[in-house]
Amino acid sequence: MNKEIKKDFPILDQEIHGHRFTYLDSAATTQKPIAVLEAVNDYYKNYNANPHRGAYYLSEKSTEIYENTRTVVKEFIGAKNEKEIIFVKNATEAFNLLAHSYGMNFIKEGDEIVISVAEHHSNLVPWQQVAKAKGALLKYLYLDEEGIITEEEIANKITNKTKIVSVTHVSNVLGTIQPIKKIIEKAHSVGAVAFIDIAQSVPHMKIDVSQLDADAAVFSGHKMLAPMGIGVLYGKEELLEKMPPFMCGGDMIEYVTEQDTTFAELPNKFEGGTQNVEGAAGLTSAIQYLNEIGMDNVEQIEDELVSETLKRLEELPFVTVYGTKDTKKKSGVISFNVEGIHPHDVASILDSYGVAIRVGRHCAYPLLNYMGVNAGTCRVSFYIYNTMEDVEALIEGLKNTRKWLGYGSK
Ligand SMILES: Cc1ncc(COP(=O)(O)O)c(C=O)c1O
Repeated sequence: MNKEIKKDFPILDQEIHGHRFTYLDSAATTQKPIAVLEAVNDYYKNYNANPHRGAYYLSEKSTEIYENTRTVVKEFIGAKNEKEIIFVKNATEAFNLLAHSYGMNFIKEGDEIVISVAEHHSNLVPWQQVAKAKGALLKYLYLDEEGIITEEEIANKITNKTKIVSVTHVSNVLGTIQPIKKIIEKAHSVGAVAFIDIAQSVPHMKIDVSQLDADAAVFSGHKMLAPMGIGVLYGKEELLEKMPPFMCGGDMIEYVTEQDTTFAELPNKFEGGTQNVEGAAGLTSAIQYLNEIGMDNVEQIEDELVSETLKRLEELPFVTVYGTKDTKKKSGVISFNVEGIHPHDVASILDSYGVAIRVGRHCAYPLLNYMGVNAGTCRVSFYIYNTMEDVEALIEGLKNTRKWLGYGSK
């Protein structure tokens, strides 16, 4: 199936440094299928105009494309209505919006904010800022050897003092799936709000935010086949209603006088300035593409690739894989190190074989510190267009890396 899917991604059909291109960095950003490229092109060729503002045909079409995406996203993630879908630039902007609009206004001195040590900096640094500004305490949920937050941590760290819990669903470093439902339930049992980072889960598995009962959920379109520059903040209507606007300017107002402003209703209240309609057109197309494949199939494709990769890595005695090897507990991300070779050297040598992987600290310094691997890790991440040939290229590349640096291939 993935061989057929791969044909929809022209960028993958090229040689890099004289080798077949192997793209293993989809957790950073995914490649885009022809359908998405065409949707963006079609928007600019036929409908480009500023949405929400013009009383003429193209502006109305542009508005229609943009607002239709809201409905498509609402259905894709199981939100209750369109007012709960706010378009932002990316997950980072969404967390900054939550931190500034909710955190800065509802957190008081002595309150506690709970995140996990596995957070991407976008769900960490904004809460540090809130905690510092408000005199609150930022507390961490730590992981077991498998890379998973334990029930004990949840029970001990989330207390009556906790006002915000903001945790990632899937770690961008380890790919481990966190017990997000239990965390949300515990947060609610102490009267805290629960925000979740679904940037690494919504592209890979079926997510229903209403069923999860998250107060807010955040993701980026570019990690799920859509263009860069469009992301989503889902928020329960009652939460978003009580939050003040984050960015002020055009289109988020109801009425403005010289000294005062009343704000637009949801969702416009949070979408100041000219909207990213091309991104919305691409996001609709990306979601349609994923729906056609079916999220169950997406999961299955990745599961097979991850199982095979873990099996093959296990055969290489010079490779250390971090976190669980149980594919039921992880998504399409694997972090590892190669004995005696700095991750950056591994990536450079793999690149010379046309294999693109991510190395470093993955915007998760506290996690890498906690894992005791300050120099970083090598990270491979899969998506629907990857094939077993890609796994083969990685394994051969790793053997060659060892040979190049004088270790032999064992
Ligand atoms: C789990 C997670 N959260 C948030 C982000 C931030 O996404 P963006 O850079 O699109 O804002 C990333 C990006 O890698 C991520 O992996």
